[in-house]
Amino acid sequence: MPRTYGHGKRISIANVSRSARHACVDRFGYMFPGLARRRRCQLPADQAVRADLIALGEEIAAKPGDTDNPNISAGYTYWGQFIDHDITFDPFSDIDAVQNANTVQNMRTPSLDLDCVYGRGPGVDPALFDQANPGKMLLGTNTSQGPGGPNPGETKTDFDVPRNSQGTAIIGDPRNDENLIVSQLQHAFLRFHDAVVDQQGTGDFAAARESVVHHYQWAVVNDFLKTITGRPALVDNTIANGPRFFRRRPFRMPVEFAVAAYRFGHSMIRDNYDINQNFINEPLDQIFRFVRPPLVPVLSNWVVDFNRFFDTGSGVTVNASKSIDSNLAVGLNSLPGQVIAKMKRLGGRNLERSVALGVPTGQCVARRMGIRRLTPAELLQGASPTEAQLLQKSNSRLIKKTPLWYYILKESEVKENGERLGRVGARIVVDVFARMLHESSTSYIHSGFTPTLPRHGGAPAGDFTMVDLLSFAGVLS
Ligand code: HEM
Repeated sequence: MPRTYGHGKRISIANVSRSARHACVDRFGYMFPGLARRRRCQLPADQAVRADLIALGEEIAAKPGDTDNPNISAGYTYWGQFIDHDITFDPFSDIDAVQNANTVQNMRTPSLDLDCVYGRGPGVDPALFDQANPGKMLLGTNTSQGPGGPNPGETKTDFDVPRNSQGTAIIGDPRNDENLIVSQLQHAFLRFHDAVVDQQGTGDFAAARESVVHHYQWAVVNDFLKTITGRPALVDNTIANGPRFFRRRPFRMPVEFAVAAYRFGHSMIRDNYDINQNFINEPLDQIFRFVRPPLVPVLSNWVVDFNRFFDTGSGVTVNASKSIDSNLAVGLNSLPGQVIAKMKRLGGRNLERSVALGVPTGQCVARRMGIRRLTPAELLQGASPTEAQLLQKSNSRLIKKTPLWYYILKESEVKENGERLGRVGARIVVDVFARMLHESSTSYIHSGFTPTLPRHGGAPAGDFTMVDLLSFAGVLS
């Protein structure tokens, strides 16, 4: 049996207490509720469509042709996953049923407040905190297997997240122990917080958390969003002026984002990674290895060298992310820890989830945004024979009504050479981030914040990137 829920793995509602469920501050909803109600913007959720979607999801992972994205390093994939685990978590909706998204609770606070790191804070979740060092997060201990991590000669002993006696991670979101890379990022955030506590020197948890969250939010906007969209002006304007389309009140995390656009990151996952000096070109399967029994803390020789995931200027070769396109890594057809066969295949799950929750089609969303729709020829561009046959089946049903997730991947592939999100994808993603930051009264945009922490390699003050965060956390050397 798997030890955690895994990333998005379904859990029984019986495993979540009723009070926890009702305490959720957010529900899912729609960015374009009018489209969600319109028949012509919906694929029917019948068995025939579902079978085609499962087959399409499997085919896009099975087909060859994965390419590297020279503009985005692989760290952004897992940083993207980490950010998702800070803002959305749907353990409740039933993939086999049809449900209005407004009835589904979101178990994460949608405000980039790092609840995946801090849980509900030291008063309520004391197990996450270091009781011997005021204000600090608890770290874990590695199983010693010799040198690993960024420094070739060094055996890391405290480069893991804390774990209980059965190996289960004691962290704010169970999905952040789903694979080695995201788990090590979680560990980096624990260290980042502790480094800020040291720098402030007061042991004041709340003051350290505020600085951590504001620097993280700054980096999400100015590094992450600008990198994955390749559109700094769009990001700056939307953060300054608020979202263009996502204005409806009250805030509800839109499924156009959580079930479609923001799952663009699934396409950035590679089939192999250089982890550190010991493990070069390791298959994705190995990255998942440590979520399988026997459950052990991260082996010291597995400690991730983040210089290989972000361009830190260290001189080691940096893993590129996979291009954002309609190819998925083949390893995503065999997700670990899944008992039901169709749940092992990520592509099909994304597509089925979107019909279950009534996500409007790519064509309807593009039209609503005033963006020219992809043509049938563009949607078929680069398709494998099986994929083309599925798209053209039943009077080209999936070409006329293309699931938004697939549409956004195709948009990036056809219009942007897979190097950044296309216009529809970028607009949904940037609108939702801008809305979250505007909505939260404690976010950095409401406080006149500019970064104050020292930067990697003595870079000039005034900005803060993920490399700066990892450097200050002390995980790059
Ligand atoms: C190895 C890496 C990853 C794995 C194995 C993985 C796997 C999964 C799985 C199994 C689900 C649940 C699907 C469902 O049943 O609907 C999911 C959901 C999701 N994933 Fe990933 N994912 C990975 C990385 C990413 C990345 C890089 C991003 C974005 C940058 C991302 C964004 C999302 C989002 C937004 C959801 C919906 C979460 C929710 O609201 O519950 N994932 N993923």
